[in-house]
Amino acid sequence: MDIKITRAKQLKNKPDESNLGFGHYFTDHMFVMDYTVEQGWHNAQIVPYGPIPMDPASMVLHYAQETFEGLKAYRNHDQILIFRPEMNAKRMIASNERLCMAEVSEELFVEAVEAIVDYEKDWVPSAEGTSLYIRPFCFATEAGVGVHPARAYKFIIILSPVGAYYPEGVNPVKIFVEDEYVRAVVGGTGFAKCGGNYAASIAAQVKAEKMGYTQVLWLDGVHRKYVEEVGTMNAMFVIDDEIVTAPLEGSVLPGVTRDSCIQILKDWGYTISERHLDIDDLMEYAKNGRLKEAFGTGTAAVISPIGELSYKGNVQIINDFKTGELTCKLYDELTGIQWGTKADPYGWVKTV
Ligand code: COI
Repeated sequence: MDIKITRAKQLKNKPDESNLGFGHYFTDHMFVMDYTVEQGWHNAQIVPYGPIPMDPASMVLHYAQETFEGLKAYRNHDQILIFRPEMNAKRMIASNERLCMAEVSEELFVEAVEAIVDYEKDWVPSAEGTSLYIRPFCFATEAGVGVHPARAYKFIIILSPVGAYYPEGVNPVKIFVEDEYVRAVVGGTGFAKCGGNYAASIAAQVKAEKMGYTQVLWLDGVHRKYVEEVGTMNAMFVIDDEIVTAPLEGSVLPGVTRDSCIQILKDWGYTISERHLDIDDLMEYAKNGRLKEAFGTGTAAVISPIGELSYKGNVQIINDFKTGELTCKLYDELTGIQWGTKADPYGWVKTV
C-alpha cells in the first residue's frame, strides 16, 4: 500500500510518563484511509492528528455504523513490539460484517497499524506499565438519512500513550453486578466491537460509579442470570480448581487477552471451562470461599483483579480484597511476553 505522508508542522511535547492515565494524550499523527463502493479502499495517508471534516448527514452520526479495535505497542529498549494484531484485524472483519460495513482486510489492517506505529515510534513510552494504545476505527461517511448500508467509510488509526486503565492500577477493583440493564443478547451485536454496545452500557456504568463501584458485571440478556463480561474486559473466576469464563455464543466480546489467557492457562495445566455460570452460584462460591480469585482480561485493563462483587444487596469480598497468586502469575507471564522480557512460545509478538 502506498501511504502519502504529511508531516505535522509542529510536534507536541510528550506527556509525563509517570502520570499518563488512559486515553488522555494523542500522538502527532494519525492514519486515515477512505472507502467508496466504486473505488474500494484508497487514499491511504499519515496526516497530522486533528479534526476530521464531516457532513452532518454522515450516516455514522444517525445510525451508528461504527466499529473499533484496541491493541498496544510496547517498548523494549529500542525495539517496538505489537501483540497479535491479526486477531484484532479478524475481529474487525467480523464486527464490520455484522454492521454491514465495508471489510478492512487483515493485510490492510496490520500494514496500516505497523506503518503508523513505526512513524510514531518515539511516542511509545518506556516507564514500567506504560504502552502506546492503538485505536483503529471505521465508520460510515456517506451523507444521507435513509437506513441502509453506507456506500462510503473511513478507516482511521489514532495512538495514545497510556498507563493503567483503572485508577486502582493493578490493585483489585469493585464490581457491581447489573440487574436492571442488559448489554447484549444472542443475535444482537454483543460479539462485535462497535460503539453502540458501549453507548448502551454507559447508564449502568454511571449507576455503578455513583455507588462507588469501578465497573459492572453483565448478566445474560435473556435469563438475567448467567455471568457474561465486565464493562471493558472479559471475566474469569477461579472456583476450586476450575477457571470459568463465559462461552462465546454471540453476546460476549471475543477478547484477544481472553484468548491469550485461556491458552497460557491450558498450557500451565489448569482446567479452564468456557461455560455458563449462574450468578447465584457465583455469589454462593464467593461467600463460602470456593471462589478463590476473580479477574478481568482486556487490552486496556490487561489483567485486573476483582476484589468485590455486589449483587442485589449481597456484597462479597474475594480473596480478602487482595490480588490472587494466579492473577499475579498470569499478569507477569502475559505482560512479560508483551514487553518481550519473557519467551514468546506462541509467536504472538511482532517487531515493528
Ligand atoms: C480495549 O481493551 O481495548 C477496549 O477496547 C476497552 C475500551 C472500551 C477501553
